[in-house]
Amino acid sequence: MSEEENLSYKEAIEKAGSSITRFPLIHIRGVPLMCHIANNWDSIWAFCPDPSDLLIATYPKAGTTWTQEIVDLLLHNGDAEACKRAPTPIRSPFLEICSPPPIPSGLDLLKKMDPPRVIKTHLPFQLVPPGFWENKCKAIYVARNAKDNLVSYYYFDLMNKTQPEPGPFDGYINKFMRGELSWGPWYDHVKSYWVEKEKRNILYLFYEDMKENPRREVLRIMKYLDLSVSDEVINQIVELTSFKSMKENPMANYSCIPSPVFDQSVSPFMRKGEVGDWKNHFTPEQAKMFDEDYAEQMKDVNIPFRSLI
Ligand code: A3P
Repeated sequence: MSEEENLSYKEAIEKAGSSITRFPLIHIRGVPLMCHIANNWDSIWAFCPDPSDLLIATYPKAGTTWTQEIVDLLLHNGDAEACKRAPTPIRSPFLEICSPPPIPSGLDLLKKMDPPRVIKTHLPFQLVPPGFWENKCKAIYVARNAKDNLVSYYYFDLMNKTQPEPGPFDGYINKFMRGELSWGPWYDHVKSYWVEKEKRNILYLFYEDMKENPRREVLRIMKYLDLSVSDEVINQIVELTSFKSMKENPMANYSCIPSPVFDQSVSPFMRKGEVGDWKNHFTPEQAKMFDEDYAEQMKDVNIPFRSLI
């Protein structure tokens, strides 16, 4: 992707100007999605990937960008310069994203790329276009513990001017528990991929494991992708995908999205990158109420989430 094309993506967002707003949500099969996504649903559902394409699926704020960067570096044998060829959403398009023209949609960007492509989605399993499974595409799912995921999403909704207004934190906790945020309930999302992971050969990762031992998780991704990368390169990838490195990397820190959309003066995209930040936000009463509801909503599965205490 040339510098000019990168620039035109940024320019396209700037040109969209006043049509950028906090978009209302419209339900697709019970899942609330930004109206532009819902209005283009038929073409998203009909998208047919190539068998060589890789899907990176997450609930928003679970570590998508981090995983996209690890995968891109693995595919380029740790070549940092190659992975600075374009910002994340150009290198690894966001399948369902649709915004007002002239901003290219995820599908527009994908059409211009040759497979194998690395495709990001926040869709729950049941809304992923069936072509991915018919074509036996590989898929990586990243899950993050609910309370940290919620806190991260709250800050994101403050700074992302296309998402519904988050409102006060207390009410936001309720919206999260009721599944009213964009892309629907966290609970159903993490479960939907968990129950399909064996049948669909999905690599199911946890943000907390990536934080605990990034090298181990980078190796897991490498093996899943049938790649062979030297120890030295793995170390380099771990370093290049540390929170600090990515925060400073203009091709990974979303500085490509201008402030009328991502207002990073409100909250940076690379905000904290920690496990357990929920403890700085939930009162003991809120945590108790959340945990009781969590036990009920998650009682039918045993997904080994950590950092809930
Ligand atoms: P916080 O808001 O808790 O800081 P996504 O890419 O799915 O939108 O997720 C964004 C979250 O992942 C943010 O969490 C962000 O800081 C964190 N993140 C991004 N890159 C990271 C990295 N290299 N290491 C740890 N966390 C990272």
